[in-house]
Amino acid sequence: MERTLSIIKPDGVGRSIIGEVVKRLEENDLKIIAMKMIWMTKKQAQGFYAVHKERPFFDSLTDFMSSGPAVVMVLEGDNVIARYRNIMGATDYKEAAEGTIRKDFATDIEKNVVHGSDSPESAAFEIGYFFNQFEIAV
Ligand code: CMP
Repeated sequence: MERTLSIIKPDGVGRSIIGEVVKRLEENDLKIIAMKMIWMTKKQAQGFYAVHKERPFFDSLTDFMSSGPAVVMVLEGDNVIARYRNIMGATDYKEAAEGTIRKDFATDIEKNVVHGSDSPESAAFEIGYFFNQFEIAV
């Protein structure tokens, strides 16, 4: 069993596609074991994306991620990190496969609707960033 962090980013929440994203997770047997709406401060977004702090898009990305509410979820299942990344599609929606969330809804490489952890190590950090043990339904 593996866990991953999913975020429906402020563009997804603002465009009222929370339900659409959740439907795709459930249709693909990705089990949601924790879920809440948050609104990150710029500082919290900078902490979350600290691995990207040297990247040219860091300031813009953290502005965007703190621009409105987001939905954070913990998903659990066999190989869930890779399975969820397949459903999300490539970071750049222009390269995303047909039928993926980003292909269908992203408008920009930055405003790409969803986030997913890229490894077990980042999943552990990212889940712990938003959830404590009492908020995860095991
Ligand atoms: P995410 O999967 O959350 O990981 C880092 C985020 O940075 C990414 O999705 C995009 O929102 C953003 N991002 C990644 N690459 C670029 C880029 N080249 N230009 C702008 N934003 C990017």
